[in-house]
Formats: sequence, structure tokens, C-alpha cells
Amino acid sequence: MTKHIMVGYATWSGTTHEVATAIGKQLESHGYEIDVIDLKQKLSSKGKEYDAYIIGTSIHASKPTGAFLRFVRNNHEILSSKPTAFFVVCANMYEDTPENRSETSDWLNDALKDIPTIPLLDTGLFGGAVITTGDDFEKLNFLVKFIIRSMQKSIREKMDREDFRDWEKIRSWADEIALKIK
Ligand SMILES: Cc1cc2nc3c(=O)[nH]c(=O)nc-3n(C[C@H](O)[C@H](O)[C@H](O)COP(=O)(O)O)c2cc1C
Repeated sequence: MTKHIMVGYATWSGTTHEVATAIGKQLESHGYEIDVIDLKQKLSSKGKEYDAYIIGTSIHASKPTGAFLRFVRNNHEILSSKPTAFFVVCANMYEDTPENRSETSDWLNDALKDIPTIPLLDTGLFGGAVITTGDDFEKLNFLVKFIIRSMQKSIREKMDREDFRDWEKIRSWADEIALKIK
């Protein structure tokens, strides 16, 4: 029977949503059935159970999003009983170095320390982007939009670009997860 996988994301401006969509497409190419779901819509309801969970968050001020943490807290029993992987999307991973991996992992682990440990297939750590277009961005309030636009401007000035997502790396990671779920 075809396995059904939930790819959940928690996003501010849509970057992590786009990464989740790419992961979902790649997993689909391995024959899985995929639902890409905004974790905000899944906070209270336990919902249906999936055969595996790939759950991602962006980082703001060195912390995963509240929606991600609430989802993990509310569903840690299910997540512990099924193949589960996390992924993180953030500026710090603009370069995949041991230092950046370690710092980013610490942000995640610190935020999760009061939740029972969930055995994970893996944690994908990906460079992010500061984007100011698209449906997710449009849903944000004026102040958050202003902060993100300012950040985009300063990153552009400093780095000459504002998108550090490595789609090849994201797809390869999804391939590895696909094999681990089989
Ligand atoms: C207000 C703000 C704070 C941020 N803080 C961090 C941070 O502490 N560490 C980091 O690595 N990236 C940080 N970022 C970068 C985001 O993690 C990155 O832009 C990510 O791709 C955003 O994904 P999202 O659109 O799915 O929320 C920050 C971005 C914003 C807008």
C-alpha cells in the first residue's frame, strides 16, 4: 500500500513553505502520497495519522517558530511512534559549515528541551531566504512585513542576494529521507 507522508511547515514569509513543497515533490517522485500542510492549521486537532512526518520550521531570533514547537509538543507521541524527520530553514545555514550546523542545531535543541525526545530519521539544516512576495508574506501584519523588508534590504546590501536556498541539497536530503522511510 502507498505510504502517506505529512510534510508540515511553519513559516513567516513563505520560504519554509516553498522548501516543504520541494521536499514533498521529491518524496512524491519516490511513489509516496504527500500532504504539504501549514502547521498553524494543525495546532489543536490531532487530525489523521500519517505513515511518516517531515516537519520544518524557520528560525527567528535564534528560535524555531511557535507553530512548530506547539505542533511537536501536541503530537510528540505520534511523532515518536512513526518515522519522523525535522528540517530547519534559516539565514545561518547560508553556508554549510560545522560551526553553522552546530549553532543551528543548538537553537533547535534548546527550544525542544522541555519536550520528550523524539527519535528522528534526520534533521535537515538548510539556508533560507528573506522574501517579500507571495501569499504567506501578504498574510503577515504591517509591522512584521516592515521588519522583513528592512532585513531583506540589509542582507541584499551585505551579501548581494537574499536567497540562500540550495535546491539540489534540499532534494538530495528528501531522497535520503525517502529511502529511510521505505
Ligand atoms: C525578523 C527575522 C529574524 C531572523 N532571525 C534569524 C536568526 O536568529 N537566525 C537565523 O539563522 N536566521 C534568522 N532569520 C532568517 C530566517 O530564518 C530566514 O529568512 C528564513 O528563510 C525565513 O523563513 P520563513 O519565510 O519560512 O519564515 C530571521 C529572519 C527575520 C525576518
